Amino acid sequence: MRSILITGVNGLLGQQLVKSFSRRNVFIFATSRGPSRLSDVPTTNFQYDELDVVDGPAVHDFVVRNKPSVIIHAAAMTQVDECESDKPACYNANVSSTRFLIDVAKQTGSRFILISTDFIFQGDSGPYREDDEPSPVNYYGSTKLVAETAVRNSGLDWCIVRTVLVYGRHRQLQRKNIVTWVVENLKQSTPIRVVNDQWRTPTLVDDLAEAIATIEEKNLSGIYHVSGEDLISPYELATHIAGELQSDASLITSVTSDELNQVAKRPPKTGFIISKAKKDFDYKPTPISEGIRKTINLSISE
Ligand SMILES: NC(=O)c1ccc[n+]([C@@H]2O[C@H](COP(=O)([O-])OP(=O)(O)OC[C@H]3O[C@@H](n4cnc5c(N)ncnc54)[C@H](OP(=O)(O)O)[C@@H]3O)[C@@H](O)[C@H]2O)c1
Repeated sequence: MRSILITGVNGLLGQQLVKSFSRRNVFIFATSRGPSRLSDVPTTNFQYDELDVVDGPAVHDFVVRNKPSVIIHAAAMTQVDECESDKPACYNANVSSTRFLIDVAKQTGSRFILISTDFIFQGDSGPYREDDEPSPVNYYGSTKLVAETAVRNSGLDWCIVRTVLVYGRHRQLQRKNIVTWVVENLKQSTPIRVVNDQWRTPTLVDDLAEAIATIEEKNLSGIYHVSGEDLISPYELATHIAGELQSDASLITSVTSDELNQVAKRPPKTGFIISKAKKDFDYKPTPISEGIRKTINLSISE
């Protein structure tokens, strides 16, 4: 039976990856920092272990001991502003961890799948294809690009799956995503300021995890862009959510990136062209209105 090591399973994507792989005939080595916060734990072919991916010796020992057929590296420091203000921590989490995993994967012969981001692009000419030229505008994006380069030059059997503004819901999530953040604020009648001069193709986490599991199953390699298909601004997304919730849309104020003045610069217009994923594995993303409805229903049912 193939075995899959997943890093960062306590996160939004990691939790969903466990769900997607538990429907397949594989053994899952689920790892993350600290105790498990998984909402659903498979009953068979599953093991959870604490693994801090910046601890090189621990990473080495874990992989040598378990010899996974495939490593899916989803753990990362994902808070873009924190990456800008704590660059050493961001570098360790996003780059050093990748190097530790690559080094030991060379010993065990494990296949390597890295999860990366639209933030490797400058954001002046989105939506982007897989072979467009990267040019990150912030530190988070720079570290993810360095990690990508390490994977591409590793000599391993590799795949890089890039994605965009991931949203969805699990019971025990540490961080909010754009949809859960808007839903919570609107439900509490709290006014929010949402940026209207950035464009993304938001990605339902269920679609992303299924795409990664399919890529693993079909042994696909190279770079894949996996996201939604609707190119919208976060402000438009927020008003859409207000409509679905039948909440007061006047709680949402449209602001520019300059007005928001975040610590890290954001690429203005990213989003992905996903024709390669459609062609190679029949990828069909959920339309944004359906993805929002699904996420809202999960939020309400808790
Ligand atoms: N979310 C997005 O919009 C988005 C967009 C493009 C690409 N991505 C990429 O998608 C991947 C998954 O992101 P996500 O959305 O699931 O983010 P997330 O919810 O922040 O999950 C990341 C997970 O990584 C864990 N982690 C961080 N440092 C670690 C360490 N040193 N050792 C072990 N685990 C560690 C975190 O642990 P704690 O929970 O304990 O902090 C968290 O559970 C990342 O590689 C990210 O760069 C995400």
